[in-house]
Amino acid sequence: MKELLKVEGLRIYAGGRPVTLVESLDVGEGEVVLVTGPSGSGKTSFLRCIAEVNDIFGITCSGYMALGIDRDELSYIPQEPWFGMASPYPILEVRSFSNADDYSVRRYAKLFNVEHILESNSMDLSAGEIQRILFIESVLSRSKLVLVDEVTAYLDEESRKQLVNVIEEMRSEFGVAFIVVDHDVELWSRHIDKVLYLEPTSSSRIYYNVDETPLMASMDRLRAEVEELSRELAEKVGEEPILKLYNVWFRYPDSTDFVIKGVNIDVKRSEMMVIRGPSGKGKSTLLKIMADIYRPKKGVVLRYAKDIQYIPENPLLYLSEPTPRDELMKNTDLAVKSNLIRVLDTPIMRLSSGEKRRLAVASALARGSDLILLDEPSVGLDAENFISILKLLIEAVSRGVSIVTATHSRLLSSVTRSVVQL
Ligand SMILES: Nc1ncnc2c1ncn2[C@@H]1O[C@H](COP(=O)(O)OP(=O)(O)OP(=O)(O)O)[C@@H](O)[C@H]1O
Ligand SMILES: [Mg+2]
Repeated sequence: MKELLKVEGLRIYAGGRPVTLVESLDVGEGEVVLVTGPSGSGKTSFLRCIAEVNDIFGITCSGYMALGIDRDELSYIPQEPWFGMASPYPILEVRSFSNADDYSVRRYAKLFNVEHILESNSMDLSAGEIQRILFIESVLSRSKLVLVDEVTAYLDEESRKQLVNVIEEMRSEFGVAFIVVDHDVELWSRHIDKVLYLEPTSSSRIYYNVDETPLMASMDRLRAEVEELSRELAEKVGEEPILKLYNVWFRYPDSTDFVIKGVNIDVKRSEMMVIRGPSGKGKSTLLKIMADIYRPKKGVVLRYAKDIQYIPENPLLYLSEPTPRDELMKNTDLAVKSNLIRVLDTPIMRLSSGEKRRLAVASALARGSDLILLDEPSVGLDAENFISILKLLIEAVSRGVSIVTATHSRLLSSVTRSVVQL
């Protein structure tokens, strides 16, 4: 088996601070390696070092790293592709798809449920859609090693499995190797050769069996905790209305089809409501209608809340201060509970993806509003951080705050009985 990547004693520093040590890793042709570990443990930084884009993020690495292929045979699908390909031109026009024939482009686009966006501009695409387009590009350009940073995080259950199947096909038919960063270890368990487990400030470990990783144990604990928290939550729902939607209809100006069709929703004080539904079904649109960003074409929205905070899917659009310390208005209790104490003075643009997401939630809570609208608050959080955020939200609910969250996380949905299925 040809060796595509070899790493020995690679120390990774972020902003001059040691982040992690990757003791040893070999990746051969057709292998799939899962990289996992808590938020902030250096997973993204590691991929950036391999892709040689670390410098621009203030990341340095020292140690041994050898690539057994040409640089252009490597592709990298970043975790936060928000602004990576924003352009007012149609995807088909601006992305080369490496001269692949139209049939192949459309075949994969269909497989990943992005066929409908090939002709649309890339400004309005969701993170998940951009990642899937980048993924198709890497498949079609016949890359030999593909680095994938949490591409399943934005996908619903069905699309996750589809993605895993494509990876399986690429590795067995074409010998493509993948280094995949993901928190969903169960999803990958039967499809990987090894797991690289990173831990902040200590050295990495390699596991050949997913069940032996510390993550499996924390998943079990997570489920037990969620069950307990959901019992707590059920007792809290009040009677007083905070938000009402009557027969709400909405369609985008350039479309003839309605995305939101006759929706009725009644949110009470101290209620935690979850909006579920597959990608593209209008979860985020509904949140924006609630937040008064979009006006419905038909129907009525009644808001009784004193103050509403809306956190979009991209937390960077919510955060406005230079550091977490400022963003949380020096509320150290919130910083501890959202596990951000270590990064209080790190510039916001440098935070890891999970850190930004936790910060946005904590920041909304710091503002003392009584209705919080959250778009995908648990994306990319490891079990421990998922629990921390959930506890924070439930604590807020006990104080009379109402929360509406759009999510495709089954676990998050299982916390509450108030579930709206789109
Ligand atoms: N330029 C920088 N200056 C200071 N700290 C930084 C810098 N870049 C990254 N960090 C910190 O380094 C740590 C590792 O970041 P990284 O993005 O690699 O984490 P991650 O494991 O990918 O986390 P997540 O699961 O949340 O995506 C984080 O705590 C982050 O705040
Ligand atoms: Mg990351």
